Amino acid sequence: MEDITKLTPLEAAAELERLATEIARADNAYYQNDEPYLTDAEYDKLKHYNAAIEAKFPELIRADSPSKRVGAAVQSKFNKITHRFPMLSLGDVFSIEEVDDFVMSVKRFLNTAEELEFMAEPKIDGLSFSARYENGKFVSGATRGDGVVGEDITANLRTISQLPQQLPAGVPQILEVRGEVYMAKSDFLALNERAVVQGKKPFANPRNAAAGSLRQLDPKITAERKLSIWAYTWGEVSAPQWQTQEEFFAKLHEWGFPVNPLNKLCRSLKEIEDNFEQMMKIRASLPYDIDGIVYKVNSIALQERLGFLTRTPRWAIAHKFPAEQALTRIKDIRIQVGRTGVLTPVADLEPINVGGVIVSHATLHNEDEIKRKDFRIGDMVVVQRAGDVIPQVVAVKLGMRPDDAVPYVFPNKCPECGAHAVREEGEAAWRCTGGLTCPAQAKEHLRHFVSKEAFDIVGLGDKVVDEFYTAGILQNPVDIFTLEQRNGADEPQDLFNFSKSEGLHLENRMGWGKKSVEQLFAAIKARKNISLPRFIYALGIPQVGAATALMLAKNYGTFDDFQNDMVNKETAKLVAIDGIGGNMAEDIVAFFEEEHNQRIIRELRQYVKIEEFVDDEVADSPFSGKTVVFTGTLEQMTRAEAKTLAQKLGAKVAGSVSNHTDYVIVGADAGSKAKKATELGIKTLSEAEFLKVIK
Ligand code: IVH
Repeated sequence: MEDITKLTPLEAAAELERLATEIARADNAYYQNDEPYLTDAEYDKLKHYNAAIEAKFPELIRADSPSKRVGAAVQSKFNKITHRFPMLSLGDVFSIEEVDDFVMSVKRFLNTAEELEFMAEPKIDGLSFSARYENGKFVSGATRGDGVVGEDITANLRTISQLPQQLPAGVPQILEVRGEVYMAKSDFLALNERAVVQGKKPFANPRNAAAGSLRQLDPKITAERKLSIWAYTWGEVSAPQWQTQEEFFAKLHEWGFPVNPLNKLCRSLKEIEDNFEQMMKIRASLPYDIDGIVYKVNSIALQERLGFLTRTPRWAIAHKFPAEQALTRIKDIRIQVGRTGVLTPVADLEPINVGGVIVSHATLHNEDEIKRKDFRIGDMVVVQRAGDVIPQVVAVKLGMRPDDAVPYVFPNKCPECGAHAVREEGEAAWRCTGGLTCPAQAKEHLRHFVSKEAFDIVGLGDKVVDEFYTAGILQNPVDIFTLEQRNGADEPQDLFNFSKSEGLHLENRMGWGKKSVEQLFAAIKARKNISLPRFIYALGIPQVGAATALMLAKNYGTFDDFQNDMVNKETAKLVAIDGIGGNMAEDIVAFFEEEHNQRIIRELRQYVKIEEFVDDEVADSPFSGKTVVFTGTLEQMTRAEAKTLAQKLGAKVAGSVSNHTDYVIVGADAGSKAKKATELGIKTLSEAEFLKVIK
């Protein structure tokens, strides 16, 4: 970047031209391709540099100047929606002094010396949306786009269950509610895990994942991704019913919109500062990413007096957290072996402070990612951490590559057990073929089995599992339930084998005592009755997370029913369950084909009683345990809402009509499914009848 004071008009014009192209390219990568290559700080620097030149040479401001655009140019594949009220951006500041300046300038503008109230809101790192309601009914939704024209994402927004489709009586006749669509960190990690397994490219961060999921032409894909929202502002409103931002939030809450409970009214700069510090502290532990705090003048009357600058309100500002990217060196690349045998390359980094947390390793995802980005041992790389999501290596600085950096060759043997590693056609991941003879897989499997959403055995944390595995005390999940007996206090258990008869005597191990061992045994005993979803999840079937396990439990009711169908390879029945695709179904059936897995299940069941799945709340609903299929267009609610309602009442919602179907709910313009129902003599209900039954 040149020294602006020394630029001639000719040079300035050339710089502005270069910046217009460069920033447009970065915008495109960020907004259209959801694949930013500049850090926020680098991007901001370019924008500031551009603005500084424009301030000095206003006559040179270009028609296509980046300063005239708020966000993304609108992508052509969606219909356009012109916002009745533009969707604005916020000015950024990076220090409490600048926040102080902002507060002072607000007071100066209003010509007041009094303390003002500011609403401090976590700045959600997602995508803004605008949802329009007419007479309380959700009619259309849009992205911000360039602030003036956005993309029509009505169908996609409808799939987000947190967004109310119908508002209660008494809301303004026209009401546009705006907020942020985001993906929770856990949902992002699960999505990426699936992507890696399926050989797809993982998303760089939750924001990109949310953007990629929302900007889907096929809303079915959006529906499969877990998106969430927070509402925080409004667009057009026929008759506003609030005088402050605080009152607006109360209304939003009353109307059923998610409002962030961390929004906080601050009455002084001190409170603003304390709140910022507090948010910095809890930031990493929040289930979603935030990249700063937004301050808004609380009083709407004052907001109106303050008005707007070109693209930003004068009454609000964003206080950004320090960048969460940093530059460091890859010391080594090693392979981590997961529970299902996937070999994941991990970069060992020279420890570096990224946004207040020391990062010393980061995932490189898979072989293709290493090749694509050309990561080599010795390279200087940009490391990114979004909240407490696993740190990632974003890009390599080619100009800083040492001469002796060699391309990484992915191993074709498992580094933990030496078994062959294979990479199947169409898959991105190499897998170790050692199965549970591979110590890494066995340990991960045990850890998963005792984890919180599975058997939840307190006292068997990662370290203990490691220790017990290495000492030969625990080799597989069954061993957990024979632990107490094998501990063999007084009675010899095997007269012919002295070492065995001695018992384990865990209480004599380092770090253990009589009490902690007793507690461990009690924790294990407490899990001898286990719920069906937990048991299914604990098995560690590839791709079956806690949510899928719950769905399977709901659909099958008992483990025997589930197992019988799996052993008989009833893949079709699995696929009929909403949310289970062909690929997942194959993995589930393949799991039950393994003799080893069958044996473990058999043995486990000698010690553990798997409870039948009963949804207490719904036991007496007419849909309890029934299989329901929806078809045609529903008028009162979206398909997603209807499905959730039916599931809450204990129904299994299937995607296609078969002999197992109990009810078909028929909306307008229903086609072949309704016909098939009549042919099979299955009871059909209209939408109105369905609503009557559930009310
Ligand atoms: S208010 C006129 N509140 O930040 C005010 N924005 O840089 C417009 N954002 O486009 C926005 N959390 O995508 C507001 N609590 C919050 C926010 C928030 C995140 C995003 C939003 C907006 C961008 C502005």
